[in-house]
This record gives sequence, C-alpha cells and structure tokens, in this order.
Amino acid sequence: MNNAEAESGSLICPVCQQPLKRKEKQFCCNNNHQYDVAKQGYVNLLLPQHKKSKQPGDSLEMVEARYRFLDAGYYKPISDKLNEFILNDYLSKSREAASYHIADAGSGEGYYTEKLQQHLNTAFDSNPPSQQQGALKRAGIIGFDISQRAVKASCRRTKSIQWVTATSSHIPIKSDSQSAVLCLFSRIVPEEFRRILKQDGLLYVASTGPEHLIELREKLYQDVKQQAYNPTSTLENEFVTLEPSLCSNIKYKIELTTSQAISDLLLMTPHYWRATESAKSIIKNLDSIEVTIDVFLTGYRPCQE
Ligand SMILES: C[S@@+](CC[C@H](N)C(=O)[O-])C[C@H]1O[C@@H](n2cnc3c(N)ncnc32)[C@H](O)[C@@H]1O
Ligand SMILES: [Zn+2]
Repeated sequence: MNNAEAESGSLICPVCQQPLKRKEKQFCCNNNHQYDVAKQGYVNLLLPQHKKSKQPGDSLEMVEARYRFLDAGYYKPISDKLNEFILNDYLSKSREAASYHIADAGSGEGYYTEKLQQHLNTAFDSNPPSQQQGALKRAGIIGFDISQRAVKASCRRTKSIQWVTATSSHIPIKSDSQSAVLCLFSRIVPEEFRRILKQDGLLYVASTGPEHLIELREKLYQDVKQQAYNPTSTLENEFVTLEPSLCSNIKYKIELTTSQAISDLLLMTPHYWRATESAKSIIKNLDSIEVTIDVFLTGYRPCQE
C-alpha cells in the first residue's frame, strides 16, 4: 500500500458523507456513489452545486506560472519553516497515535505539500523504532484544491499524495481525522478546518505581511497601502494561536533577474487582475527587480470545548 492508498481512508463521500473506499480506479461509498480516479491520479469530489463557475480557480497560464516560480525555489524558506514546525509535531505524536494525517487545503500546484511529504518521509526512513517508544507511522497526506487545473498540475509531482478536487467550504474528509491542516495563502474556512482536525491537531496558516512584494506593488500602484490580512481574527471563534516559538515571520529579499521569473511572479499574484495594463507592461519590461518576501506562518490549535 502506498501513501496515497493509505491516506485515502480519510475521504468521505461529498453527497452522503459516508466513508469512501478505493476499489481499483474508483472511490465508492456504502450508498454506491462512485467517483472515478482520473488518469493523472486525482479524484474529483467537488459537487457541481459547490462550484461558482465551470472551471473555478486560476487560469492554466497562472497555474503554470506559479508552478515554475515555486520550483525555482524563491519561496523555499517558507516551505522549510513549515516543514520544521510540522516535523516536530509529527515526531512528538506519530509514535503514540494510530496515524498521522495531513490535509493541505487549497494546495494549488502542490509545491509545499510535496516538499512536506519528502521531509517527513526522510524522517520516517531514518528513524528506526526505539525500544521505549513505538514506531513512527508514515504520514498520509491529502492535497485538495477547488481548481482542477491546479490539482492536475500537482499530480505531475508525485502520485503518493492523494490529490483531490474539492472546496474548503465542504471538505470531503472525515471529522476528527487530521493531525495537521495547512492553509497556505488560500481560503480559510474555520468551521471546516476545526471539524476535520483531531482535538490535539494543529492548523498552520500562511498569510502575507505588510511588506510582501512591496517593491512590485510600488511599481504597479500610485498609492501603496501597507496592509496585511490577519487570519487570527477570522479564526478566533474556533482556534487559539500557538506560542510565538511555534509561529514565524519569514522575511527576506529575492532578486529576479529573468523576464520569465518577473512575469511569473506578476501572473501568480492577485495584482495581475488588479493592476492596469500599462503598469503591468512596465514590470514586464524590467531586466531585474529585487522584492521583499514578508510572510506570516501562524500555528493554531482548536479551542477546547
Ligand atoms: C494563492 S493559491 C495558493 C496555492 C498553494 N497553497 C501555494 O501556496 O502554493 C490559492 C489557491 O486556493 C485555491 N482555492 C481558492 N478557493 C478555494 C476553496 N474554496 N477551496 C479550495 N481551494 C480554493 C485556488 O484554486 C488556489 O489554487
Ligand atoms: Zn455517498
């Protein structure tokens, strides 16, 4: 059994919420609702009534831009910090618990999801069971996104993560089943994240800080506001913030020196939609640009009932 097969045990039917079982190229519930596994390896559990458009999410061009940009490593420090936080939790819990499951909500092209899996697998492979403690369990990971284009792209990375087309508003994952939920620059749905998390589970949210891409924004807009979205206010009825040592503000500068990297960055941000054509063409014609990355990685645990 590979990781994806082990992990798919957390999935539930989006119609009747019964557990889904994998039977060869299909997922099936007790009420015989069936979902085909696509040839790329993902399963579509997004019901038509939960979509606002036929192809929700970013265009193919934006998906490919984000895939290239992330693979070039510009956001690797964010991935490294996330991996460090989750690995510590995994090592402390995975020996006693029956399983360690992670759901990446709005996983996009799967960059962070895959890096996390590689990190945890390395720890798993190099940690023989000690006599005092039980063995580590291999972490099972589900990455889901509302965008089928993004999910298809993430299938190119690895088949050992269960990739799913689904919405964070109706997550097709069992209640109280996940050790960690990730929401990296994606839509936060506190009640659903709370529902799928175990009582001692962790939620990690990545959000942009006030200086994120400030140099790009200064070139695009006349009036640049130093505003940052604070996810804590959205989450406070369901979650409490972890202690400061388990949260991080990741701030550094990157230098983009190719027109491909510059246009990829522009394409993968909301500024692509907001900025005027003339402002965007100024950016596209730059030879190089230095930009600040300013990201908050905030950990939460569910409020105790
Ligand atoms: C800025 S991207 C981030 C992707 C990925 N987490 C990353 O950091 O590379 C936001 C993603 O959220 C997805 N998304 C938006 N609304 C969603 C929803 N309601 N449920 C699931 N995914 C959603 C989009 O399709 C997109 O892939
Ligand atoms: Zn069903």
